[in-house]
Amino acid sequence: MTHQVRAVVARGKGAPVSLETIIVPDPGPGEALVKIEACGVCHTDLHYREGGINDDFPFLLGHEAAGVVESVGEGVTDVAPGDFVILNWRAVCGQCRACRRGESWYCFNTHNAKQKMTLLDGTELSPALGIGAFAEKTLVAAGQCTKVDPTASAAAAGLLGCGVMAGIGAAINTGNVGRGDSVAVIGCGGVGAAAIAGANLAGAAKVIAVDIDDRKLETAVKLGATHTVNSKNADAVEAIRELTGGHGADVVIEAVGRPETYKQAFYARDLAGTVVLVGVPTPEMKLELPLLDVFGRGGALKSSWYGDCLPSRDFPMLIDLYLQGRLDLDAFVTETIALDDVEKAFERMHGGDVLRSVVVL
Ligand code: APR
Ligand code: ZN
Ligand code: ZN
Repeated sequence: MTHQVRAVVARGKGAPVSLETIIVPDPGPGEALVKIEACGVCHTDLHYREGGINDDFPFLLGHEAAGVVESVGEGVTDVAPGDFVILNWRAVCGQCRACRRGESWYCFNTHNAKQKMTLLDGTELSPALGIGAFAEKTLVAAGQCTKVDPTASAAAAGLLGCGVMAGIGAAINTGNVGRGDSVAVIGCGGVGAAAIAGANLAGAAKVIAVDIDDRKLETAVKLGATHTVNSKNADAVEAIRELTGGHGADVVIEAVGRPETYKQAFYARDLAGTVVLVGVPTPEMKLELPLLDVFGRGGALKSSWYGDCLPSRDFPMLIDLYLQGRLDLDAFVTETIALDDVEKAFERMHGGDVLRSVVVL
């Protein structure tokens, strides 16, 4: 059997997205069919539409989603119809060299649904990050579904599927922020704001938010920043040093993805401190640093893929903290929109007044 559902498709480079009817097959072995309840709009979706990821048009966009499992294929035991799940784009294999050494958040062989979703004329769709959740239903590998407490709001929960998890994980998993640490976060969009919330959860004593937009700094304070720096008017490195007794922060998280801000992060950390790069650079960007400073300052320079998260470990835990009122996921939901508003949400991204627009179905 197949299902005909409405979905947001990017047909060609730079062209506005369109709402289309697509065909979703019933789940085969190892797959799950998920009825989507909410899906956040992420920069990566826009990046796909602009042809910045690859040329495999048409794309089925959307990847920060939560929903309910409708049916599962043969051999699926971890999730069952009726489960409320958050979708992830790293279903770990359990067999590659990373998985075998117990570091499956680095899994080098993550998988997606084997069957293809198509347009009505049979053209195969490429689902964004192997998910494609700006759709009433989508087909994924069962391992891409993580069951969480169903009393959580779908709009808030879905955000853990990408950007918010990336930010929280940059602080708690990659940066290893601990009780009493000083942390600075450069760039306080959805990802950076989540890093602030993560640092706070981990018990950081000082959380310094740095952005060039005062509106982002206001939200950062709501999520637990203890100090703010508008780096349009002030030197970020000096300001962070001043706020940390002249030393620099124990952990500095770069959530912009640019060489200038990476350099700020590099020099704003204490000796032997940690820099975490969670912002995603573009291919032409280059970084130049005195190698002696890289050596002499010691510590760790790390990058954080998807917050080095393990969905099965991190999603249920973070949803519990959310339901206990200890992690304000609702603060990331700036607006809820309909499926046919995704193009408008892309336009609003440039305005800077949105952490996340979330499609609610
Ligand atoms: N210094 C400080 N902050 C800056 C600078 C700068 N030079 N340039 C931009 N910013 C701020 C913006 O004002 C904004 O608040 O960085 C933030 C970026 O946020 P968003 O555009 O909302 O992006 P977000 O979803 O948070 O993602 C940030 O992480 O996962 C990656 O691909 C993603 O590279 C992107 C980054
Ligand atoms: Zn693996
Ligand atoms: Zn994303």
